[in-house]
Amino acid sequence: FSLKEHNTFGISAFAKAYTSVSTIQQLKEALAYYHNEEVFLLGGGSNMLLLNNIERPVVHVNIKGINLLKQENQHVYITAMAGENWHDFVIFCIENNWAGIENMALIPGNVGTSPIQNIGAYGVELKDTFVSCTVMNIKTGDVTTLHLEDCKFGYRDSIFKNEALGKYVITSVTFKLTNLSKKNEYQLKTSYGAIKDELENLQIEPSIQAVAQAVINIRSSKLPDPKVIGNSGSFFKNPIIEKSYYEDLIRMHPSIPHYPVNEKQVKVPAGWLIDQCGFKGKRRGDAGVHDKQALVLVNHGNATGQEIIALAKEIQAMVQDRYGITIETEVNLIQN
Ligand code: EPU
Repeated sequence: FSLKEHNTFGISAFAKAYTSVSTIQQLKEALAYYHNEEVFLLGGGSNMLLLNNIERPVVHVNIKGINLLKQENQHVYITAMAGENWHDFVIFCIENNWAGIENMALIPGNVGTSPIQNIGAYGVELKDTFVSCTVMNIKTGDVTTLHLEDCKFGYRDSIFKNEALGKYVITSVTFKLTNLSKKNEYQLKTSYGAIKDELENLQIEPSIQAVAQAVINIRSSKLPDPKVIGNSGSFFKNPIIEKSYYEDLIRMHPSIPHYPVNEKQVKVPAGWLIDQCGFKGKRRGDAGVHDKQALVLVNHGNATGQEIIALAKEIQAMVQDRYGITIETEVNLIQN
C-alpha cells in the first residue's frame, strides 16, 4: 500500500497493510485484529519523515465529529474527534465565535495528533486551551481520559513522546474556549511582532477572525503549502541553550536572535542558525531547504526519506561546528 498521499512530505514509501477506521469500535477491532503485531498509527501524516518502507500494518485514525460538551458562564467545552483536520476545526470555532486557538490557524495535521507535540504558533500553544483527551490503550483496547496535568506538556513535547510513547491512540481532544457571544472582553494574543504588523497591513478591526487571517497570511508567505511542495513544517526544534553560552556567542555573532525561556536559558531560532550557514534555498537533488524559511526542509518531487535525512545531518553538523549548538529534529523519524 503506497503511503505517498498519506504523508505531507510526499515521500514514496509502502506499508505492509493499511486500514482506515472511522469509529471507536472499528479502531478497537483493528487493534484487536493486529494484537500481536506492532501497528503504525497514522493521523494527518504531517509531522513525520518516512525513512523506509513500513514493515507494520498501518491504522489510519479517521474518526470524525465535533461536539459541544457544555457551556459554562463565558466558556464552551468542545470535543473534537481525532480524525478532524486541525485547521478546519480552528475555522469552525472561529465561525462559532469561540476564541482561544485562532493563532494556530493553518497548522497542518489532525486534532488527534495535536497533543503529541503540543503544537504551537505565534505565542499560543495547544496546552493553553487543552482540557483533556480520551485515549485507547493499544494493547488492551481500554479507553481512559488524560487531563492537562497528566500530559506533561512542554515546548513541542508531551507524555506521548516520552513515557507513553507507543502506548495509546488519542481518540478525541476537549478544549475550553471563550464564548465571545457571552463575553466581550477577550485579550487577543497579538504580542508576536509579525501578527501586529500584519494586522496593521490588513487595516481591519482586531478580532479573532482578523488574527486568524493575519496568521494565515504570514504562514502562507513563509511556509510552503504541502499540497504544492512536500514538507512537514519546522524540521528542527529551536534549541534551548544556557544564557552564559549565549553571552559568549553574541561576542562573536552580534546579531544572533533569542527568546527568553527562564532565568538561566534562552531559545535560539534554528532557522536563523541554518540560514547563517548558507543553507536557505539549497538543494541536494530533490531534497531541499525552503527558500523563505530555513527551518523547513522540502521535497521538490521525488526525494526519499534517506535523502532528506542526509541533508538534515549535513545541516546539523554545520550548525554544531559553527555555533557549538546541537539542533534536534522536531519531525518524527519513522524507521520501518
Ligand atoms: N530566521 C532567519 N532565517 C530563516 C528563518 C528564520 O533569519 O530562514 C529568523 C527570523 O528572522 C526570526 C527568527 O529566525 O528572527 C524566528 O523565525 P520565525 O518567527 O519564522 O519563527 P521560528 O522560530 O522559525 C517557530 C515555530 C513555528 C511557528 C513560528 C511562529 C518551532 C520549531 N517553530 O518558528 O512552528 O509557526 O515559530 O510562532 O518552534 C512548526 O512547528 O511546524 C512551525 C512552523
